[in-house]
Amino acid sequence: MKAPVKQDGVISLKNDGTEKIRGKYDRISPYYDLMELLLERVLFFRWRKKVFDALDGESILEVGVGTGKNFEFYAVGKRITAIDFSKGMLSRARKKAESKGVKVDLLEMDVQDLHFGNQSFDTILGTFVFCSVPDPIRGLREIKRVCKRGGRVVLLEHVRPRNTLLGRIFDLLNSITVKVMGVNINRNTVENIQRAGLNVLEEKDLFGDVVKLVAANPCNGE
Ligand SMILES: C[S@@+](CC[C@H](N)C(=O)[O-])C[C@H]1O[C@@H](n2cnc3c(N)ncnc32)[C@H](O)[C@@H]1O
Repeated sequence: MKAPVKQDGVISLKNDGTEKIRGKYDRISPYYDLMELLLERVLFFRWRKKVFDALDGESILEVGVGTGKNFEFYAVGKRITAIDFSKGMLSRARKKAESKGVKVDLLEMDVQDLHFGNQSFDTILGTFVFCSVPDPIRGLREIKRVCKRGGRVVLLEHVRPRNTLLGRIFDLLNSITVKVMGVNINRNTVENIQRAGLNVLEEKDLFGDVVKLVAANPCNGE
């Protein structure tokens, strides 16, 4: 793996995967909310609410904040920091935060190389992020590092279904979704969470076994 390099104030792995995915999100950022409008109203909205019902703690980090679709669930009075590596997505999030009066520190940052000290946050959340992070285990290890030992990680993710036929279909369609949206639909994200050394506390199926709400903590016997 290539050494991290500094670029536009962001430490980046500078491997092709990262630049490609970042570029895709920059390009789709103007249409992103519109593209997901229907799914957002019918499904995503109530799943997002469940993420925030599972949150605790004062200092919160949201990774892969995107256009800021979770802002309406942010509790007043919490210290919230949110990062994304796409300038385009972040600029949408900034406009949304301003227009809705949401207090959040928005930073351009790669979850694979977080610029925070060890154990900086009580709670870390992400919604539909680890399907597109180029090296998900590296990103999840970073989350583990910056989460306080008594803290909590809450992730809403879509994953590869266990059903053999459906799983194969997802595998076949994956190259298309990566090309169009930078999104992998066949990742085993719960396994990735465990492989990163996080301890899975709860795994809830929200849509068959394809969409999951996962709560984890950073203490894995350490
Ligand atoms: C599918 S979108 C989800 C956005 C938002 N969380 C939501 O629920 O609408 C994935 C987001 O993760 C961001 N992302 C992907 N890889 C990232 C990385 N390595 N570091 C930071 N952000 C990343 C993308 O730029 C994009 O905004």
